[in-house]
Amino acid sequence: MCGIVGAVGKAEVSPLLLEGLNRLAYRGYDSAGIATITQNGIDRRRAEGKLQNLVAKMANDPLPGTIGIGHTRWATHGGPTENNAHPHASDKVAVVHNGIIENYQELRDELSKHQVRFESETDTEVIVQLITHYINHGMTPIEASRKTLARLHGAFSLGIIFAGDENLICAARRGTPLAIGHGKDAMYIASDALALAPLTNQICYLSDGDFALLTAHKIEIYDDSGARVERPVRTSSLSADMIGKGEYRHFMLKEIHEQPEVLGDTINALMHPASGEVYLPEMTIDFAKINRLTITACGTAYYAGMVAKYWFEQIAKLPVELDIASEWRYRDVPVETSNAMLVISQSGETLDTLEALRLAKKNGYPSFAIINVPESTMAREADATVFTKAGPEIGVASTKAFTTQLATLAALTLHAAKLRGTITADNLRALTAHLREIPALMAEALRLEKEIKLIATDIHTARDVLYLGRGTMFPMAMEGALKLKEISYIHAEGYAAGEMKHGPIALIDEDVPVILLAPPDALLDKTLANMQEVAARGGKVLLISDSKGCTRGKRNAAWAIEMPACDPFIAPLLYALPIQLLAYHIAVLKGTDVDQPRNLAKAVTVE
Ligand code: M6R
Repeated sequence: MCGIVGAVGKAEVSPLLLEGLNRLAYRGYDSAGIATITQNGIDRRRAEGKLQNLVAKMANDPLPGTIGIGHTRWATHGGPTENNAHPHASDKVAVVHNGIIENYQELRDELSKHQVRFESETDTEVIVQLITHYINHGMTPIEASRKTLARLHGAFSLGIIFAGDENLICAARRGTPLAIGHGKDAMYIASDALALAPLTNQICYLSDGDFALLTAHKIEIYDDSGARVERPVRTSSLSADMIGKGEYRHFMLKEIHEQPEVLGDTINALMHPASGEVYLPEMTIDFAKINRLTITACGTAYYAGMVAKYWFEQIAKLPVELDIASEWRYRDVPVETSNAMLVISQSGETLDTLEALRLAKKNGYPSFAIINVPESTMAREADATVFTKAGPEIGVASTKAFTTQLATLAALTLHAAKLRGTITADNLRALTAHLREIPALMAEALRLEKEIKLIATDIHTARDVLYLGRGTMFPMAMEGALKLKEISYIHAEGYAAGEMKHGPIALIDEDVPVILLAPPDALLDKTLANMQEVAARGGKVLLISDSKGCTRGKRNAAWAIEMPACDPFIAPLLYALPIQLLAYHIAVLKGTDVDQPRNLAKAVTVE
């Protein structure tokens, strides 16, 4: 995914665009660029790599203009070079683009026959050349843009400016989000309203298929049939300092530490203010009537779904089919009429998850989504949505979004269990009360950071790390391994502890640290037996348990983290913290780019 931003007004736009790109850098950081229009036509600056490179370039070579577009790129078509960086431009038009043009090769071949020469390897450049081609054949810029849009296949959003017009941005949305900001004497576009937070809080979102014309004082929006439409302007609650790092060195660390608070917000929103019971008034799925729940998601959100499978099956006696979205979409699963689809996504834009949702709806499944970004596509398309209250998550590695997803899934499980009559009133009360304990327990667990940092100094030189756990700690082991891989680039694997003896045990030696997630649940003895198997082979174990588990297992462990005691039901939420902190401190010691790890993007809007 990429980030696009644009502004048309009376002030110089370059500083605003750079600031906007800074806020969108989580969406991609392979290259960045800005184009503006002046009396001399289109001018642009582009730089390979992080935004700082562009900032440095523009400090020496500023870009004047009161209208402009900017882009931060996550490379799809063509490597992360300056030549492939956006904005792409001809002498007549400049374009920024987020998404993919599926038929770009066909269009490129067609334009090549008209002697059009391409400068980059990107799919985006066909948009520039097609608009230019139509303008050269007598169309106005707006007509040429409309005609070009009609020929593009794929999911994308666009910002377009034209030489000779210092008061027009064309914007379009087909599949990937685009927010419009209404300012004083200025209008803005951005892939995410966060980018516009310092400029305006008056935001509207284009709907799928919309085409918009922005001038400094006006916006006209047309839907996909060409009819003039209005899109509601809302006051955004995103404030400019919401995305600062505050006292923290990295967004990831800040987001880890925000968890007690955002978990409190998420849990409170799921509870009835008077009775304190789980309360989901928006939920349109009748859990008593479905025989199976399909859960699909990607990455960390998938691991949240994997934890939920244990909960739904054990507590609500609801069978769960769980799959990675990119697999489920193509698996040609037999359609069951009494099934419902649950998708989980921080961004609400991940293409594989979105397409799985669309397929489920096509198959007649009632659908619901657990989403963090309110105005996202999935939130609009699912029959019902429960919003997590994590707030903006900027670090590419998901932390607070994950635990708020878990809290929401735990509440949903209790809601389903009540409707299905699989839980006693006493047990329901007890589990609800445990869920409410989470913020305080998290605050306690965060105090272990110093110890975890020390352990990280021992582990950060490892080449491979194994994470083991049983029951809900198995998906947590997978999540721990993913966190470590993505930010420290250390190879890590998560395994079901009982499965280790069937293969991975061959990896064990003193150079492969094993992280054992072992809260004292019904399987503790078995998990500790697995730890002995590792220790007996010279393996070094980091035991993560509470005082009870540590007392019993410590002698076989090289390191131990003594967690606050908690009910096994909520252990996944609490045990997320040490694995996040461990990955974070290892990555810091390794000197990697924690918030923007190589090759990754925050939301992946391509297949
Ligand atoms: O926005 P989504 O929750 O749909 O994103 C899904 C994954 O791309 C995401 O969780 C990814 O695995 C994170 N980088 C993990 O930290």
